[in-house]
Amino acid sequence: MSKSVSSYASPSIACVAVGAETIWISPFFTSPQQDHGYDVANFREIDPVYGTMDKFDKLLNEIHSRDMKLVLDLVLNHTSIEHPWFKESASSRDSPKRGWYIWRDGRRPEGKRPPNNWNAIPGGSAWRYYENTGQWYYFHFLPFQPDLNYRNPEVKEEMFDTLRFWLDKGVDGFRLDILHTIFEDKDLKNNPFSWTLTESDKKSASLFQHHKYDTNLPETYDFVLDLRKLMNEYEPERFLVGEVFGTLNDLKKYYGPENNGLHMTFLFEFTSKVLSFKPKKILEVISKIEQIFPPPYTPTYVYGNHDRDRYISRFKNNVQKAKLLATLQLTLRGVPYIYYGEEIGMSNVKFNLKASEDPIGRKFSKFPFPLISKLLRFSLTRDRCRTPMQWNADSDTGFSSNPEVKPWLKIADNHKEINVDNEEKNPDSLLNCYKNLIKLRNENICLQEGLFEFFNLEKFKKKCIAYKRIRNMHEIIVYLNFSEKGLLLKSFKPDPKLLFSTKANRKKVLNEKIKNYFKLNPFEGIIFQ
Ligand code: GLC
Repeated sequence: MSKSVSSYASPSIACVAVGAETIWISPFFTSPQQDHGYDVANFREIDPVYGTMDKFDKLLNEIHSRDMKLVLDLVLNHTSIEHPWFKESASSRDSPKRGWYIWRDGRRPEGKRPPNNWNAIPGGSAWRYYENTGQWYYFHFLPFQPDLNYRNPEVKEEMFDTLRFWLDKGVDGFRLDILHTIFEDKDLKNNPFSWTLTESDKKSASLFQHHKYDTNLPETYDFVLDLRKLMNEYEPERFLVGEVFGTLNDLKKYYGPENNGLHMTFLFEFTSKVLSFKPKKILEVISKIEQIFPPPYTPTYVYGNHDRDRYISRFKNNVQKAKLLATLQLTLRGVPYIYYGEEIGMSNVKFNLKASEDPIGRKFSKFPFPLISKLLRFSLTRDRCRTPMQWNADSDTGFSSNPEVKPWLKIADNHKEINVDNEEKNPDSLLNCYKNLIKLRNENICLQEGLFEFFNLEKFKKKCIAYKRIRNMHEIIVYLNFSEKGLLLKSFKPDPKLLFSTKANRKKVLNEKIKNYFKLNPFEGIIFQ
């Protein structure tokens, strides 16, 4: 699992064409769709909006027949309030399912204040009062997503059986949604105050609260060891990737004391809005990741997902810069994750918050200050990065062959130029750049498994980074020019062979006049052997 993973709304054909090995699909289980599938009402059925179980089985077969893998998105932390378990649990204090969720009396006077000070991630109290039983239930994310109570062994057993249900069908692994919030402090101690407004990798805090007692508890680290044991019962090997937040050292604990926990967690350093196009900062981030996750640990490199703004828009949709960053992502150690549309340069699309499909957008539409969007981990409405995949220049951009079918979100205006059809025809397109990089990575074990080492570029280090991947006697060298000026560099290898350049027509390697020197064009990324 060291090739590449792609997240696609409309998977198989696209991923085969781009060359990704694994597809992760966001949740398609029965759901009232208040959070687009992240509010599940039945974990073992497919929502008719997406298809049927027969179609799912067919999809899985087709994926496997192409030597690819399928990863499901499992929301272990919470259900929808529409889930029969919650309805039953909420019906009375004596319900047999009462202990499946976290119900508590409120604080005095009269229990009309939430049981403690915990904030939900998008802000506001993490507790909701239920009139009919006079108690509060806990939710970490949005009020219609009550947290399951994993201190109740029945819950764990049921959810582990759910994993087995899908593993028996042959799925290759799971992406585990907000897994760091599985357990909460059993005494529900108040979280301490923090000066932090937005989340960072320095501490697990946001919105002026340190999430000390509601995230990353020791019980959660133990829980992942049991998850891994369950996965180990299956052949061929299955895999787990966790969506967890905290410092990189917190995240490391999810890999288990002997690398016997999750196979990997998402490392979101590169999605951070503060990450600039500066070699020094990029070098710092990679060095830190390499230091905390040395082999045999598997780091991940993620530029975007369905919760974040599209990375190319941070760089004014500059395709040269995107090509350079793609070269970086696909030549690092670990697993690169590509969010659908990144490979053609799909950009953020503007949405009116009030009309937002995303419940987070509607929540924030009440805030007077748009500045908040610049500060928070999530964009104000996640609709911006969720528009339909741009296949072609048609009015529905190729969403469906049935003209009656309408896409669920508006289509980006730029779909006439930025689409798969156009880019496939152009050898110098971003899509072809991604394809060539993925092909190179798939064919080259050194890029998949080789060790990683930076070169010291001395006077060029503010403009450029260079590193090698090493496996046995084999070496691959990568140079990335982050400046808008061409650079003349000395090659670390006497007679390098050019494997790839972000400039599709580059043929020549070394400079003919100055021995062992070569030119790196503005924003050019190059791979040598
Ligand atoms: C995760 C998902 C996000 C979802 C939330 C609640 O962060 O990526 O889309 O809204 O969890 O399940």
